[in-house]
Amino acid sequence: MVGAMSTPDIASFDPFAGPPQLHGARRFGVRPGTELIHPLAVSGERPLRFEVAGLPDGLTVDGDGIVRGVAPAGPGEHALVVTATNALGAIVEPVTLCLGDTLALTPPMGWNSWNVYGATVSAEVVLAVAQAMVDTGMRDLGYSYINIDDFWHASARSADGRPLTNPETFPGGIAPVAERVHQLGLKLGIYSDAAELTCGGCFGSLGHEQVDAAAYAEWGVDLLKYDYCHAPVGRDAAIERYGAMGRALAEADRSIVFSVCEWGLRQPWRWAADLGGSLWRTTPDIFDSYSWLPLGVRGLAARNVKLNRYARPGHWNDPDMLLVGNRGRGRSTGELRLPKGPRPKVWSFRGISDVQAHSHMTLWAMMAAPLLTSHDLASTGEFDRRLLTNPEILAINQDELGVQARKVSPRFRPWVLAKPLADGSLAVSITNMGRRTRRVSLPLGEVGWAGDAEVRDVWRMRDVGRLDRLDVELAPFASVAYVCRQTD
Ligand code: GAL
Repeated sequence: MVGAMSTPDIASFDPFAGPPQLHGARRFGVRPGTELIHPLAVSGERPLRFEVAGLPDGLTVDGDGIVRGVAPAGPGEHALVVTATNALGAIVEPVTLCLGDTLALTPPMGWNSWNVYGATVSAEVVLAVAQAMVDTGMRDLGYSYINIDDFWHASARSADGRPLTNPETFPGGIAPVAERVHQLGLKLGIYSDAAELTCGGCFGSLGHEQVDAAAYAEWGVDLLKYDYCHAPVGRDAAIERYGAMGRALAEADRSIVFSVCEWGLRQPWRWAADLGGSLWRTTPDIFDSYSWLPLGVRGLAARNVKLNRYARPGHWNDPDMLLVGNRGRGRSTGELRLPKGPRPKVWSFRGISDVQAHSHMTLWAMMAAPLLTSHDLASTGEFDRRLLTNPEILAINQDELGVQARKVSPRFRPWVLAKPLADGSLAVSITNMGRRTRRVSLPLGEVGWAGDAEVRDVWRMRDVGRLDRLDVELAPFASVAYVCRQTD
């Protein structure tokens, strides 16, 4: 019996200990001729020394393992070899730099301000989170985006139509924030809306797409989340409005990842990639609930899991942010932090449990979902820290093949998800979606694996042995995740 468990027993990984290990994206890229900031994501005891062979002219690696500079003007792939050394050992690993129009070759990992700070986001908060991303070692595990959501805005644009920041919360504008975030080896995201107003009532970008995209590029913005409040219902209008911003971003002198946020209401998986979208929300906002309704973990997962065939490198289904780190506070969307108005009762939730958070993280990783946390990173609880920093579950999410797991099991049984990985191995997760303990005995043939596999328990970071089936007892709502490798 493997993995019988009533409470999640998962490994703890220290990103600042041990010999060097490479995490994060093995394939990454920018548009030719634009600025690249790419943290190599190497854990291990400090100091670490980095060398990267094969870097084209214009790019260098700094002492923190950040590849920086302006990429060459021509498209193409560059095979690089990363060497990282510390007192305990060295690694030599291939990675690929891809110069082309496709960005986010693996699902974006990072942080977004909305669910935790809502309308109270500020430069100070953003810089503190960026620093915490480094200090907690999360950057060295592949988390790299620091995304400012709604409410960075001044009350109006400048007289000549340029976007301005709130003088109290972002007194120096976005550029100095971006500069500091980049110094830390991280990337900065921003937020706007395809209408006159954002969801929070700040100015949107409709009719200002070019001026806004140019300003974001000049400020050093690396990602735009583009929302759809106050915009027409129909799909054609959405395509037109997202298309206008997509074109403006493509013309800007910077690689800016385009994150489409119309909540999956107009099947963006069918059209957003063609407009330059790297990720698109497939669901309404996540709330701190395990509900099957389309606001809880199971509800969002049930929608998102069906869309697996649309995910591929550079194009990801986005079932919204992680609750991990931010759960248990009875809220999960910053709408609760809107400055005015009553707080409707419907927004109060008890919060998901440890077991449910473990399943949430497992499902999001397997579904190749963006992994965006939204909490105060400096005070992550111990269990949630383990969930967010397990390098083996993150490696499944970031695998360069870019396949979203397929759901193998019939509808109401425990969910079995299978995700082929670039090295020929197969990630398999089993999630008990219900409140009764379940026994599962899964022949590997059912997930398309022929013969025996060397099986590794991902969450415990332990080899299980040579098996031709997975036998587990799953507590209510619990998950297990394995990687099956070829036997010698
Ligand atoms: C919602 C969006 C949230 C957040 C919010 C900001 O539409 O889904 O993730 O961005 O707007 O007002």
